[in-house]
Order: sequence, then structure tokens, then C-alpha cells
Amino acid sequence: MNILGISAYYHDSAAAFVIDGVSVGAVQEERLLRHKNDATFPLGAIEWCLEHAGLELADLDAVVFYERSMRKFDRILTSALRTFPHSWRSFPEAIKNSLGEKVWARGIISSHLGGVPRSKILFTGHHHAHAAAAFLTAPTGRAAILTVDGVGEWSTLTVGHGERRPGGTAGLTLLREIRYPHSLGLLYSTFTAYLGFDVNEDEYKVMGLAAYGRPTLMDEVRKLIRRTTDGAFTLDMDYFEYQTTAARSYSRRFVELFGRPRNPYEPIDLESAEGRRFADCAASVQRVLEDTLVDIARALHQETGLSDLCLAGGVALNGVANARILAESGFERVFVPSAPGDAGCALGAALYADRVYLGNPDREVPDHPFWGPTVDAKELARAAREDDQTVEELDEAVLIERIADRLADGCIVGWMDGAAEFGPRALGHRSILAAPHAAEMRDRLNRDIKYREPFRPFAPVTPIETADRYFDLPPGGARLGRFMSGVFPVRPEWRSRLGAITHVDGSARLQTLERGMAPRLHALLEAYGRRSGMPVLLNTSFNVAGEPIVNRALEGYSTFRRCGMDVLVAGPTLVTKRARQQASPAKEAVA
Ligand SMILES: [Fe+2]
Repeated sequence: MNILGISAYYHDSAAAFVIDGVSVGAVQEERLLRHKNDATFPLGAIEWCLEHAGLELADLDAVVFYERSMRKFDRILTSALRTFPHSWRSFPEAIKNSLGEKVWARGIISSHLGGVPRSKILFTGHHHAHAAAAFLTAPTGRAAILTVDGVGEWSTLTVGHGERRPGGTAGLTLLREIRYPHSLGLLYSTFTAYLGFDVNEDEYKVMGLAAYGRPTLMDEVRKLIRRTTDGAFTLDMDYFEYQTTAARSYSRRFVELFGRPRNPYEPIDLESAEGRRFADCAASVQRVLEDTLVDIARALHQETGLSDLCLAGGVALNGVANARILAESGFERVFVPSAPGDAGCALGAALYADRVYLGNPDREVPDHPFWGPTVDAKELARAAREDDQTVEELDEAVLIERIADRLADGCIVGWMDGAAEFGPRALGHRSILAAPHAAEMRDRLNRDIKYREPFRPFAPVTPIETADRYFDLPPGGARLGRFMSGVFPVRPEWRSRLGAITHVDGSARLQTLERGMAPRLHALLEAYGRRSGMPVLLNTSFNVAGEPIVNRALEGYSTFRRCGMDVLVAGPTLVTKRARQQASPAKEAVA
């Protein structure tokens, strides 16, 4: 049975493929179109899926869309009528979006896909797709499921549980929901907008900024979100405007409470009183988000008595909150998929349709994030030679030793290997790697490679076997680190020697690498460890600000040529920049 899952029209379009119960491929449209967060119908991703699976459109048994568009339309219409006349500004835009694309999704999908019969087009609930993406890909037979995002149709937070048996049946039940406009995701996004960042894109900047502030404004944030006796919450909508206009998410009352919003075009000066106020705002909303999630997760643990929790939805990208849920909710293991946001719903929708709707036997999904297009090393060699660069093609062992040498010499390495990651994190197949020891490396990467704000931290990767030595991991922490989903303290004795990846509060968003998941990167970490004494590398996504993560070798090469990267690797091919800037030795930092 050939099932195609689609996520589109809101944020991060994607397509995913499941054949005979086994996931075959998944890719975000942005990676192929080269337009960050592209939300259009993912024709490129679908075409790649079909080609990769060796199938034609006529071979599809089902096409599954990641939300029920009529319910979403119902939410938009009902909200607009409830808030009329305040909503008159947002209503035409919402109607245009809904009528233009979403409501008629079945017809649109059918016409985009060359007349796939309407009877083959299915829809899942948005939170069912999120929950399935987390639960049906996790190595667990029974788990509680907590999904938290901005909004789908009506749900903004759902709790439930799932049960599955390889070869047997899979069941997924959502027990309760919190409905729009009451939304933790939209609360956080409102602060994202207030702090001058891009909503649906820069939420992790708020989390990064939070570490520079103190949660002194929690009482104010709690005026916005009121806990209810049943463990849920409501938002005081007087502080918000997203329910009435698409132009602004916070109201005048919000500004009266928190002060002037940040001008996005002005840098944040953390030395100034205003800069510190913004950092305190970030710290306060972050803490309230964490406290609320921990309480809800703890209640879910008590209710279900289960030891495993699957987290889904865009809010599950908040690694600080995830780590607190693991430490404080009572769950022993917490699973977050590599793509917990809306892109991941493409895979979730396909798996949900296969396992639950169509009742096909459950299959184990390989526990890795590498579902995307494969890099072509020959394409890189060709392009670099034509450009008169130094190109070498090396045996595996020689290449690994050579790259470890370069990293120890302070070089910045573009690292492409095999199939691309599905989801927003680079987990070792489309990564920029560097020595993690000196804070200067962080500054150099922010300045010369990523072109981004200086307060943004970088993440480390280390073999799972050694993670405990450098990082203070709670039980279950290594699992959360598999897809870089948790933020944990760097052990104090190592912080001065891990200056490039230790955030201002002493934490790091760690990737714990198991050899089987990315063997080449694992070998590189070991080789680097033999040189530096520490098998730890800085691992950041292979892109520059404003661009999606590189996909093909040519995009990697283009990025390499445009920024201060020294070395580029794809498969056995090693390209060294001819006139590279002088690198500072990393060995001194660990001597
Ligand atoms: Fe969502």
C-alpha cells in the first residue's frame, strides 16, 4: 500500500511517503525550492517522494492531508463572528486563505496531483497527525502523548495515549483538548512578535534570549494566562489581538503591562535597561511556559500511569521545557520526533492513515531522522574542480583523520553525508562542524558564517558513550538528546573548555550520537577526541541566516563559497578553500 502524506498552506510544507507500512522518505518543500519556510502546496517534495519511491501518481492508494480543512474554516468563521466587528480586518484575509486553498483542499489536491481520484484523498485531524508523527515513530509500545502548538483546526493542546504492537494493531486516542484562542503556542508567539522576532520562525531566539534575563515578570505573564481548576488554562484575550486581526498579536493592554515593544531593526543591547527588560520578558514567558507544561505533563503521568511520553507540536522544539518535563513530570522516557512541527505532520498523517484509519499492521519505524534526499559527492567534486578549488577524493579512514586534523587546527567544516535530516535540526548529515572550545569560535561562526545575533548559542554533538562526562544528564536525558531535543547543563569543570557551545546560563542543546545513527560523524568525533582529548564538536545547521538548510551538494558548495567556511566534505570528496582565512588553532584551548 502506497500512502503519501502532505502538510501545506500554513508553515513549512512537506511531503512524506509510507510504502507497505514502512517510511520511505520525507522532505520539506523549503529544502527543494530554496525558500525558507515555504508554505505552498509541496509539489517539489511530492515529486521527490514519488521518484525516490519509484512510483507514479497512479500507484498511490491514499493521499492524506494533515488537517481537516472544513473544521479549520469553521474555527476561522466562528472566531470572526464572535469578535465582530473587531474582526472585520482579519476576516477577509482569513476567508481568502481558507476559501482559496484550504476548504477546497480535496479538489486542489486532486488537481495538483493529475486527477488522483477524490475517493483516495483522506484527511486527519491536525493534532492526530502531530501525535502520530511522535508516537508511531518512537521506539515504544505504549506512551502518553502531549501535543502543543499554536493552533490547528480548533485544538491548541491535546493529551492522549497510544498503544502499538509490531505486526499487530496501533491505536491512538486523544482524551482532551484546549481550544483556540487559548493557546500556549500563540502565547509564546505573541512574545516572539513583541520582542521583535519573526513569529513561527524565531521562537527559539526567545528561548536563547531567556538565558540572559531573569524571570522577574512572571506575575505579569500570569495575568495573561490563568490556570483553571481542571489543570488547563485560559488566556485573557484582552491582552491579545491575534483573534481579531492578522496584523498584530498583542493588544494595547499588553503594551501597557510590558512596555514598549522592541523595534526589530534595532539590535538588542543587553547592557541597557531596555535590553535587559526584553531579556526578562523572554525569561518570564519561558518560565511560565515550562511551569504550565510540567504541570500538564505531571497530571498526564498520574492519569495514565505510563512511563513513556511522546511530545509533539511546534512547542516540543523548546528544549529547555522538554528537559524540565523529563526531570519533573514523572515520565521516565520522553520522545520528541526530529520534526515535531507542522512539517512532521506529513509523515504523521501518512502513518496515522496507514496504521489507524486503514488498520494496517504496525511496523517499527527506523529510529533516525535521515528521510530526505541524498547528497551526490561527484556533483560536489565536479563543481569545485570547475571553480578551480583543491579537490581530493580520499579513503574513508584517511578522510576522517584529515578532517579531525583540520578541526583541531581551528577550521570550520561543512559536512554533508547521505540522506538529509527531516526537521529543523542538523543532526550530522547537513551540518557545519567546528572546535567547541573557545568562545571566539562562536563569535566567528555568528559573524562570518551564520550572520546572526551574537546572543544565539551553538549546539554540541558528542558520542552517547561520553555524553555524561561533559554534560549533566538526568536519566533519560541521552534519549532526549538523540534528535537534539533537550537543553542540559554543561558540567562546570568543562565549561571553560567548551566555551563555544556553553550558553550564558551554563547549558547546551546537546546531540547525543549513537554510532549506528551516523557512523561517519561518530568516527570523526572519536578521531577528534584523540587529538583534543574531548570527543565533542560544535554542530550547527548547514545554512546561512535567511536560507534553508542545504540539500544538494551544489547548494552546500555555493554556501561554502559565500561564507568563511574553510573545508567542505560530501562522501569521500574533500574541498579545501584556496584563500581561506587564517584559522586559529583549537588545540591550545584544550591543552
Ligand atoms: Fe501544528
